[in-house]
Amino acid sequence: MSANCANALAELSKYASKDGVCVNDLMDSKKSGGLTYNDFLMLPGRIDFPSSTVKLETKLTKKITLKLPLVSSPMDTVTEENMAIHMALLGGIGIIHHNCTAEEQAAMVRKVKKYENGFISDPIVITASRTVGEVKQLASELGFHGFPVTENGKMNGKLIGIVTRRDIEFHDDDSTPVSEIMTRDVVTATKGVDLAEGNRILRESKKGKLPIVDSNGNIVSLLSRTDLKKNHNYPLASKSADSKQLLCGAAIGTHTGDRDRLEKLVAAGLDVVILDSSQGNSMFQSEMIRWAKKSFPNLQVIAGNVVTREQAAQLISDGADGLRIGMGSGSICITQEVMAVGRPQATAVRAVSEFANKFGVPTIADGGVQNIGHITKALALGASAVMMGSLLAGTTESPGAYFYRDGNRLKAYRGMGSIEAMEKTGTNANAATSRYFSESDAVLVAQGVSGSVIDRGSITKFVPYLMAGLQHGLQDVGVQSLDALRAGVDNGDVRFEFRTASAQLEGGVHSLHSYEKRLHN
Ligand code: IMP
Repeated sequence: MSANCANALAELSKYASKDGVCVNDLMDSKKSGGLTYNDFLMLPGRIDFPSSTVKLETKLTKKITLKLPLVSSPMDTVTEENMAIHMALLGGIGIIHHNCTAEEQAAMVRKVKKYENGFISDPIVITASRTVGEVKQLASELGFHGFPVTENGKMNGKLIGIVTRRDIEFHDDDSTPVSEIMTRDVVTATKGVDLAEGNRILRESKKGKLPIVDSNGNIVSLLSRTDLKKNHNYPLASKSADSKQLLCGAAIGTHTGDRDRLEKLVAAGLDVVILDSSQGNSMFQSEMIRWAKKSFPNLQVIAGNVVTREQAAQLISDGADGLRIGMGSGSICITQEVMAVGRPQATAVRAVSEFANKFGVPTIADGGVQNIGHITKALALGASAVMMGSLLAGTTESPGAYFYRDGNRLKAYRGMGSIEAMEKTGTNANAATSRYFSESDAVLVAQGVSGSVIDRGSITKFVPYLMAGLQHGLQDVGVQSLDALRAGVDNGDVRFEFRTASAQLEGGVHSLHSYEKRLHN
């Protein structure tokens, strides 16, 4: 006779454990071997809240909190200032690569720190001695009108007027100096004004441009009416609490020359440095952590890469504020093949995070992330954030131009240990070489490849897609925040299932003649 349905929930208590396996059983490598993200799934929980309320706030380091657990890789085909600015605007953070001179890297950091959403920080500024003809020429070359005029003709000079389309449109004498026709009575706003207020002033003044000036009347930036509609609001933006500037990360090596580099980066306003090494457990890295923590007490230092508890323990005791996990899992990576060293990423993330979290040291799961599911799994295994290379490399914000091949729109993406990246010259300390070898090595042994990835559009669409997907994933598991996810995994409430090879095939698209895989609108 079947049991009374009303007792179904009570019946559960007769089972020794919840359905599925706990994380420790999943990770028992004696049974399963090292796991990758594809080797397991999480089991669904109960949904009693909308996905939009799921909180994704997380710690990047001991002292830095982000609204989104997303980080872009320090690679020369992934993160320069444009990627770093947009990752921070969207709630994550970008780590600027170091395959360039220290000065170039510091200049990129400075641009991120000086960036104000919607404000043009380097507008074209002219002197009053320029002629109407020259201004007409400038406008036709640049495709816009409205040039602030300063005493010295430079940014940060004293604002004395503005030349607009109306000032020059019907002025036939091209030799007239700007001083005679410019508008002197300029509507301005004071430095520190926020975007909403600046836009309100622009609208009400009915002007095309709004120069922003400091207390001495020097121009510091400009708002433009034509940009009004484009000025998105970024409520999740990662900013320093005191300066309100965007957060910026950068990577360095562990050679002596990298100390000078770090000094320049800190002077440019750097918030967090990543010590970029494929095998982070070295005496060089230990020394660098200690020196950086002593020299720059306000700087957060992320060490790595590590994949074992033992590596992690060393770097935690050296003072690391965060750890980066991964060896050989990156899409462009051939480390495991060439060096015979590394670890499957899911196992590495769990082993290191479980240990590091005991000390309040957040971890970043770095490499091998191919889709949203992988991000959710990395976070469930205890990582606080996820670092991505290939997923972000084909976006509008990554360095490099698009090109076409076989009808596809592509961007180059290369490993920092690829021969191409290691041979990049003209830098005082070649980042790629220093990540993988000492500069004195006569033969370069590649640990990465050089290739291309498909156009993914702008991260201003792609990152919100990742965020929404993550929120849905957590909703399915039945948890309302990343903290709740990690707690549920640790106390055995969130359950897992090992995935056989045929289960993996079943979980992908199958049995169709053809299909198109569109990921978001
Ligand atoms: P992806 O997201 O799977 O493309 O992996 C990106 C990660 O691969 C980076 O954040 C680095 O940790 C790692 N990586 C970058 N260049 C190389 C390389 O040349 N060999 C091995 N790993 C690399």
